[in-house]
Amino acid sequence: MRDDYMKNLRYAVNFIRYFLRYSLTKKPQQANYDITWQCNLNCEHCYWKKYSYGKKELTDEEWEKAFKEHRKKGLICATLTGGEPSLRQNILSIANNVFDSIYIISNGTRKISENINRRIFVSLDGNRETHNGIRGANIFDKVIQNIKNDKRVVITSTLSKTNLGQIEEIVRIARDANVFGITFSLYTADSPNSNLLLKGNDIDYAISTLKKVKKENPDFVFLSSKMIDTFKTKEHIKNCFLRSKFVISYYPDLSVKTPCVLGQNIDCSTCGCIVPIYIHCIRKLDIESAKVISRMFDV
Ligand SMILES: C[S@@+](CC[C@H](N)C(=O)[O-])C[C@H]1O[C@@H](n2cnc3c(N)ncnc32)[C@H](O)[C@@H]1O
Repeated sequence: MRDDYMKNLRYAVNFIRYFLRYSLTKKPQQANYDITWQCNLNCEHCYWKKYSYGKKELTDEEWEKAFKEHRKKGLICATLTGGEPSLRQNILSIANNVFDSIYIISNGTRKISENINRRIFVSLDGNRETHNGIRGANIFDKVIQNIKNDKRVVITSTLSKTNLGQIEEIVRIARDANVFGITFSLYTADSPNSNLLLKGNDIDYAISTLKKVKKENPDFVFLSSKMIDTFKTKEHIKNCFLRSKFVISYYPDLSVKTPCVLGQNIDCSTCGCIVPIYIHCIRKLDIESAKVISRMFDV
């Protein structure tokens, strides 16, 4: 009982700190770094395929210098993605030493060093057949082996026409893997006519199923009611946090990526990205969302 109280208190304090920091700061505090152009997969829904130019990417030393400069200017939190960030694990360690917090988004095909005790978001988009199909390679078993019992891991699943019917199964797989939890995004398209995009009844189905799995797994599914509803209302798009001055995104050559980490080829009106939805719900002072977020990022 007392533990619960202390936990809730800590979440509330984190929430207020985050909100104040967000409201008062004029400079970017958070950055998304695409640390490499390389990726070992070829996923059917991935925005990244359109940006894999194979241009220069920074060396370890250049990344270290850039991270330190950014930290000096006030940036405290880094999300490391790509491409596949586990292909350049040195950079993960360097960022871990420089920033107050880092988050990694990985496809889970290579285990991230145990020395990095941070939240790792691992993509998992379905059961063995579906995941392998979406990701273009037989990697499901390897991913499960890599994440098994790893409490750093929150599975992140992107729902599209291909895997909409597997929400409950994905949660079961995540449970069996004994990771810390799971969260979901909806596919963001380059055009409202995309075949993969969820619309109308599909979104209603996603919402009712996500609410069901949340109810059945309250501490495991990292979504609040408001977040789930926002997949339909799309209220987050208007004042999107990822397009704010608070956050900045970089390509692997350190050029700035706009309007957000998904890059220029996406149609923002289709956005189902959970990250701006988290922030939208915090801005609306939704307490359930604040608790979900604080717990998920509390590492
Ligand atoms: C671009 S990947 C890079 C990190 C890593 N290679 C991975 O697969 O997780 C980052 C995340 O974005 C998701 N993603 C890619 N394209 C997307 C899109 N069009 N809409 C929504 N999510 C997308 C991926 O499924 C993955 O979870």
